[in-house]
Amino acid sequence: MTAIFSNPPEFFWFLPTSGDGPYLGSDIGHRPVSNRYLREIAVAADRLGYTGVLVPTGRHCEEPWITAASIAPFTEKLRFLLAVRTGLYTPALLSRQFAALDRLTGGRILANIVPGGSASEMTGDGIFLDHDARYDHAAEFCTVLKRLLQGEEVTFHGEHIHIERGRQIFPPVQRPHPPLYFGGSSDAAHKLVAEQLDAYLSWAEPVADVAAKIADVRARAARVGRTIRYGLRVHLIVRETDAEARAAAEKLISHLSDETIARTQAAFRTQSDSEGQRRMAALHQGRRDKLEIAPNLWAGVGLVRGGAGTALVGSPKTVATRLKEYADLGIDTFVTSGYPHLEETYRVAELLFPYLGITSPRGGVEPAPIADYVSTVGPGVLSAQTPPLRVASAS
Ligand SMILES: Cc1cc2nc3c(=O)[nH]c(=O)nc-3n(C[C@H](O)[C@H](O)[C@H](O)COP(=O)(O)O)c2cc1C
Repeated sequence: MTAIFSNPPEFFWFLPTSGDGPYLGSDIGHRPVSNRYLREIAVAADRLGYTGVLVPTGRHCEEPWITAASIAPFTEKLRFLLAVRTGLYTPALLSRQFAALDRLTGGRILANIVPGGSASEMTGDGIFLDHDARYDHAAEFCTVLKRLLQGEEVTFHGEHIHIERGRQIFPPVQRPHPPLYFGGSSDAAHKLVAEQLDAYLSWAEPVADVAAKIADVRARAARVGRTIRYGLRVHLIVRETDAEARAAAEKLISHLSDETIARTQAAFRTQSDSEGQRRMAALHQGRRDKLEIAPNLWAGVGLVRGGAGTALVGSPKTVATRLKEYADLGIDTFVTSGYPHLEETYRVAELLFPYLGITSPRGGVEPAPIADYVSTVGPGVLSAQTPPLRVASAS
């Protein structure tokens, strides 16, 4: 089997901080959030060679920065891509939290800047800004945050942010500042990421649509003399064959009622002002009979989940081939997940990583494979008949 990627991409997984389970839109097998469960996923991802985990924000999730602080000590190399609702913080507070966690984890913290896409959730958080004003706020916020993290003394009087002689005394490990990722599909979103941020993440739309978004962001960045990185956020349903993967996708929504779909889609329409969310919903239009919206790109997750709503479905070779089509657009980072997240952490690593060229487990020295040991002491050591090896005793 030949790897489809000559250079392994950055490959992130996801911490399900609002709960997990084997079926979408159903309580069957539901796994509530607990430190132990999230830790199991993070430890597995760390050992299996994932670059890091995305930790989302929103009122239905555990708070991401607190969650990461409680999980990171159990991991060694795993990075934490932590969502930030910019309206919930001051730049000074975030800069302090960011530097502290970056320092205490040895430089493993990244931020995903999310100005937010639900007006009603925003007002519940005390943020009374419309969509574009939230982006204006986020732009000022990021300007000040970056300068603080770089160690500057900052005085800034913007429309939204005011700060006088602000200082971050403890520098983060990652310099000049830890990377700032971002996802959003509106005009204001593309402007913000092109002008200020380090990496643009897109939910997985068909390749041509993602290509158009990247081309727009790239052109805007070039106009201000910047280059940034690109990433894709996508669910994965990988099985040994395409047919098994398709069956697993159907199983995932087998307990999802039409009523739940209708209610969820209505909520997205009335409560969300996110262009990205509108584009996700338009892919399936709430219909469960036309979910393969591009080859191997399945929109079933978005019937009931906000945000990332599409999955690549297929055998390891099929999925790797599809990922490569996105990589050819300039994408070098994938942020992935699958239900339930613990089992799928293993399945994706075991089945897909060889095709991506991700080979070495991370996080410390692994014991030698048993086969190596057997070959040094001769065959038969592991057979049922052989008594356990014993240290020579005096008797
Ligand atoms: C990869 C990715 C992750 C996101 N994570 C979150 C999140 O955790 N919480 C949230 O409220 N919004 C999240 N968003 C939503 C956006 O950041 C954005 O605030 C929203 O979609 C509105 O942007 P738009 O109208 O420009 O598309 C995410 C978007 C992307 C692409």
